Amino acid sequence: MAKINSNYQKLQAGYLFPEIGRRVRAFSQQNPEAKIIRLGIGDVVLPLPNPIIQAMKLGADELAQRGTFKGYGPEQGYDFLLAAIAEHYRSQGASVEADEVFVSDGSKCDTANIQEIFALDNTIAVTDPVYPVYVDTNVMAGRTGMSDGKGRYAGLTYLPTTVENKFEPALPEIPVDIVYLCSPNNPTGAVMSRANLQKWVDWAKKNEAIILFDAAYEAFIQEPGHVHSIFELPGAREVAIEFRSFSKTAGFTGTRCAYTVVPKELMARNDKGEKVAIHSLWMRRQTTKFNGVSYPIQKAAAAVFSIEGKAAIEENISYTMENARLIREGLSSLGFSVNGGVNAPYIWLETPGKMDSWAFFDQLLNQCHVVGTPGSGFGSCGQGYFRISAFGFRENVEAAIERIRTQLKL
Ligand code: MLT
Repeated sequence: MAKINSNYQKLQAGYLFPEIGRRVRAFSQQNPEAKIIRLGIGDVVLPLPNPIIQAMKLGADELAQRGTFKGYGPEQGYDFLLAAIAEHYRSQGASVEADEVFVSDGSKCDTANIQEIFALDNTIAVTDPVYPVYVDTNVMAGRTGMSDGKGRYAGLTYLPTTVENKFEPALPEIPVDIVYLCSPNNPTGAVMSRANLQKWVDWAKKNEAIILFDAAYEAFIQEPGHVHSIFELPGAREVAIEFRSFSKTAGFTGTRCAYTVVPKELMARNDKGEKVAIHSLWMRRQTTKFNGVSYPIQKAAAAVFSIEGKAAIEENISYTMENARLIREGLSSLGFSVNGGVNAPYIWLETPGKMDSWAFFDQLLNQCHVVGTPGSGFGSCGQGYFRISAFGFRENVEAAIERIRTQLKL
């Protein structure tokens, strides 16, 4: 009989967001009249802006003509989009060449897939709390032992990010080969300071480690001076891979488009101790396993960088960040301790009396019909925290705060 990859059996329960979906569906079936407000998964609600939709339509029209029809595109992405992305990086003070950009169907997939080009005996560090994809994919690959039942797996190095350290991960005290960093952070909403990120880059250089830098939320940074791309920092091109996405930035969660930058200088060693370029490995992986993002979607993504596209997405980001402000200030005025929500679309609140995160989830759902995300779903240091997403319609955000004010009885 065929055998399974037993590493999958080490995974804890289901993936976080389907589990939330399951509980919400069960509640909804028992309470069909309840008007549920969903501020759980960070999914966009605003329609795609007109300049982006127009570009998508024009792209689709081209496919309807013999002279402009396209079949398979380049796996890495069309040149027009790669050039626009490289130019955008330059405008942010980061040096990235167009042929270092790999367009894909999502940062979730890229941050999940990247680990497979690295040896199984690399030591891996993640923050705690953490976006679960980084952990689960390393569990699936066999880089960990069993879970302790509280969200930690043997063999991974966890870097706590809590109120005490202002959600800034400290450098690891034991040797680590690969570290996942996410800034602005999902789920804490914190942004790493330039000085701290530079320390990480210097550490990685000294230790021949690699930083997998998830910058999917960089466009939500509101305060000046923060790092948008790790490649703004000296030395980063030798130690980092960066992931970015059009999903939250420009409303592509349904249409799917993202990109990953692998600088040509980035090296790691093979079994013989020789240095090998990661760029060529990722290229090899993508050309074998991925056939590119569809042409109309890449046209739409390129329009995000046009003058009109930029203005439109800035408006949507401002809308979301105003929601974040309302949630932050609303909850804070009700006595909650809130973090994040200033440079990221997530508010990370401390549950009253450090109450269990899932218990708080159930109370909020039952009493207020509001859905958030239990912090413990992101790791053991997330216990006693709760994430609220600012992606939502303004009226729902306002109604959610009002319901929490008037209906939540703890
Ligand atoms: C989240 O809510 O954390 C995100 O929507 C998940 C994702 O981007 O995959």
